[in-house]
Amino acid sequence: MVIRHLAEGVEVLAPAKLNLFLEVLGKRPDGFHELETLMVAIDLHDRLTLAVDDSGQIALTCDDPALPTGADNLVVKAAEVLRAAAGPDASKALGARISLEKSIPAQAGLGGGSSDAAATLVALDRLWDLHTPAGRLRELAGQIGSDVPFFLDAPVAVCRGRGERVEPLDLNPDVIAGFHAILVCPPVGVRTADAFAGLTPPDRPEPIAPVIDALRGGDPGRLGRRLFNRLQPVAERIQPALGRVRAALNDLGSSVLDGHLMSGSGSAYFGLARNREAAELAASRLGDLGIGMVRVVRCGP
Ligand code: C5P
Repeated sequence: MVIRHLAEGVEVLAPAKLNLFLEVLGKRPDGFHELETLMVAIDLHDRLTLAVDDSGQIALTCDDPALPTGADNLVVKAAEVLRAAAGPDASKALGARISLEKSIPAQAGLGGGSSDAAATLVALDRLWDLHTPAGRLRELAGQIGSDVPFFLDAPVAVCRGRGERVEPLDLNPDVIAGFHAILVCPPVGVRTADAFAGLTPPDRPEPIAPVIDALRGGDPGRLGRRLFNRLQPVAERIQPALGRVRAALNDLGSSVLDGHLMSGSGSAYFGLARNREAAELAASRLGDLGIGMVRVVRCGP
């Protein structure tokens, strides 16, 4: 995330993520699933502006009328969780006015709501002068949602547990920024809970090591062959229209894309391109098919 101080408050650019690999290791007694996933941030951002409100209210406005602006929104949840953690004395005065401009589609598997929540935690911790220790902030992030802690450590990490145990990968930023992709966001969404509910965990999970090695190597061709998402067939059963997106990416062929995958629990797909020109060629071919919003993106914070 990128934070900029304004005359009053702060502005945060909250990135989307792609899952380059997602395996489900099993179902846990708490109802969640044990995951192993490789996530990377991309240059598609929501924009938040936050300012202190001395009245003590937490008020969110959002340019997308389809999204809730009450306690159902992860931004409000993040503000409330942080305020509660600051203790009962502090909470009386801690208020915020937050404005959210959405570019990351919802229910797309791109982590938009989670990234907005992580941005809110970091920004309000500064604005409210709380100096919450990093470990505690991660704990609070995990309470808000499984993907929220990743965005505190983005741009690239392996995430385990529910997704909240984050192991950042120390990769050369130039290698990460060298990966270009084409993003397709279909007009239909997939609820994360539905995707997990429709899944039978595998007897023999796919290993994550080859995809990490391929990412480190910086070669899109190698990485493209290692992309994997256990939730993709489930999402395609829930939303049959998604099969058309996969077919359209497949039809572009290996001369244009090095591989393609659904991100997270869907419904967005991405195709890995050799370079920006290949990604733009893919965008121009996909743009007229009516399969969803098409956009060229690059990996990185
Ligand atoms: O943590 P988050 O709120 O993003 O999860 C949404 C839903 O997705 C959960 O309520 C659960 O049904 C499912 N989920 C899961 N295993 C995970 C993450 C999410 O079953 N590791």
